[in-house]
Amino acid sequence: MSTYILMKILESAPGRYDRGIRILTLGKLDEAYDRLTSHIRRGQAVLDLGCGTGALTLRAAQKGAKVKGIDVNAQMLEIAQRRAIEAHLARNIELCEMGVAELGSEKAESYNVVMSGLCFSELTDDELTYALKEVRRLLKPDGLLLVADEARPESTSKRILNWLIRFPLVAITYLMSQTTTHAVKNLPARVEEAGLSIESVRLSKMGNFIELVGRKPGGGSK
Ligand SMILES: C[S@@+](CC[C@H](N)C(=O)[O-])C[C@H]1O[C@@H](n2cnc3c(N)ncnc32)[C@H](O)[C@@H]1O
Repeated sequence: MSTYILMKILESAPGRYDRGIRILTLGKLDEAYDRLTSHIRRGQAVLDLGCGTGALTLRAAQKGAKVKGIDVNAQMLEIAQRRAIEAHLARNIELCEMGVAELGSEKAESYNVVMSGLCFSELTDDELTYALKEVRRLLKPDGLLLVADEARPESTSKRILNWLIRFPLVAITYLMSQTTTHAVKNLPARVEEAGLSIESVRLSKMGNFIELVGRKPGGGSK
């Protein structure tokens, strides 16, 4: 869905983010998040990068996981906190105003799962490289990385079509929020470069949305 770019506008009005993103993605994002979080088990320690209003965080907590959600946007976190209280899940959720650049402060091998929804496309290339390296350090052996995000289509024809659809949306978004997103390039290869193996990749028909499951090798290799 090329309309993911418009989420930058919604982020500037966090109160409307959840309803807006559901309308923009026609519920498809919810389906992707349900698929991804089906990998999470009761009692696991989970980290949600760029948790926003808690779409993935709450799903993981509902499954009985202990979840830490981090985000740089305090207003999004306030909404996530409110939703956690309303869902009686606050006990299992810790929310922190912190960016992926600060992941170095987290203890090595402390999470069974690290997940991220629509956040990698908001990072710079260097931040993404750093985040993936940190994900490997923070995961326990055999731990999972779960990602759903905008992707750059592999084939040239799909890339051109995607660009034609996306360009006006990028322009509108930039005019309204002075920011943009960067559809993630070659995510599977970058995840492998960071030292994780790929368990599964699911691409949308246009190739512009990716759901990826990666795994840190077991046996305590670092
Ligand atoms: C499109 S929202 C997605 C939020 C949530 N994961 C969801 O799926 O509803 C992207 C989120 O990433 C956060 N974000 C962007 N850059 C970040 C960074 N460097 N570190 C942590 N969070 C970041 C934004 O503040 C925003 O809340």
